[in-house]
Amino acid sequence: MVDHNKSTSAPAPADSGERFSKSGFIFAAIGSAVGLGNMWKFPYITGKYGGAAFFLMFTVCLLAVGLPVLMAELTLGRAGRGSVSTSFNRLTKRKGWGALGFLMILAPFLILSFYSVVAGWTMYYAARSFSGQLFSNSDYSGQFSSFIGSWQPVWWMLLALVLTAAVIIKGVSAGIEKFNKILIPGLVILLLVLVVRSLTLDGAAEGVSFFLSPDFGKLSAESALVALGHAFFSLSLGMGTMITYGAYVDKRQSLGAGTMAIGLGDLLYAFLAGLIIFPTSFAFGIEPGEGPGLVFVALPAAFAAMPLGSLFGGLFFILLAFAALTSTVGLLEVPVAFACERFGWSRGLSVTAITVLLFILGIPSAISVGGAVDGWQFGEKTFFDWMDFICSNILLPLGGLIVTVFVGWVWKHAADEAGLTSGWFRIWIFMVRYIAPILVVLVLLYSAGALDFLF
Ligand code: PHE
Repeated sequence: MVDHNKSTSAPAPADSGERFSKSGFIFAAIGSAVGLGNMWKFPYITGKYGGAAFFLMFTVCLLAVGLPVLMAELTLGRAGRGSVSTSFNRLTKRKGWGALGFLMILAPFLILSFYSVVAGWTMYYAARSFSGQLFSNSDYSGQFSSFIGSWQPVWWMLLALVLTAAVIIKGVSAGIEKFNKILIPGLVILLLVLVVRSLTLDGAAEGVSFFLSPDFGKLSAESALVALGHAFFSLSLGMGTMITYGAYVDKRQSLGAGTMAIGLGDLLYAFLAGLIIFPTSFAFGIEPGEGPGLVFVALPAAFAAMPLGSLFGGLFFILLAFAALTSTVGLLEVPVAFACERFGWSRGLSVTAITVLLFILGIPSAISVGGAVDGWQFGEKTFFDWMDFICSNILLPLGGLIVTVFVGWVWKHAADEAGLTSGWFRIWIFMVRYIAPILVVLVLLYSAGALDFLF
């Protein structure tokens, strides 16, 4: 049960009554889940790991493991009603959990420092596409490398951070909720326009079949682990976001129904994004396993070759920017809620201080990825790649493990808060106790290279 004696100096935003409306919560959580993960990362890893077979694995991982962990995070957040580490402290008397919760506050802070760099790229590309400059020179790979190799990404990252801060500073319902309620319908309209455009291109069918007719021979243990890791990333798990958002959910809202809506919304979005990217790539003879440059290098070539390409290209990058910003908002709220609560700072001060720190930390990511500054390579990875690797492959599964062990084994009142029927509760807690932690440990071992002998 909630132990308020452990409250820290100032009330957490959730303690001072900050709440989402019912629909506001669903919009905000879908906004956080749907992001660059769905539109930038998902297509190139799907391209790399075998198309439809990978999509199938991703779907299974998301439904069987992602949803139970998402439900666990929301339940934990709503019962704890604090920033991540306080929520842990309030729900158990055992020592050490608050410190583990702190890891899940650090993780979104670190992820935001490089995620906002890519968010900045999308805004730059939207601007260049609408203005037609992007299409004035057909060397798209050269354009991309000269952009990321310059200092310009630093300023575009700053723009992404400032926009995010402007939303978070307004608080939960006037900021996060309202922003998502405006952007998400816009996102859906843009998405549908682009799906129709790509499916009506000559040669689209080949792309659809690459994405949707699985070749089971391509399933492998490696692609399953990548799919599981991506299901976590895509649902914003292991990063404190869903725990923090959970703290703002009304007691009367059904968490089971919310979990379903968020999970299916995210999956549907990935599906529709696939229906844009693969038909477009195939129609213009582009290799979908291209890598992180796929949407920035390959797709502009495709847009250039279609009628009204600068309009569709611009819409595509705006879509990407919207999706990115609804996720950066979810990331920034985690450390901000913590700073308000722990240091007793006002929301304005917390947002400002954290944004300045993020800007400083983001600079090496922004300039290292394209080599604007020599010597930013550590081992075989750039600073940007290290940040991505540490966050996505280590901190995120670790966060997932912390949540599943806590909800499955340590906290004794998960059933009271979850409000599931006894049948669903049994299935849920079984997944959270046994299946999810085992699979997450496998992902961690795989990321650490400990399973290399198997592949
Ligand atoms: N889910 C987001 C995406 O798919 C990324 C994210 C991770 C956002 C963790 C918030 C927290 O892009």
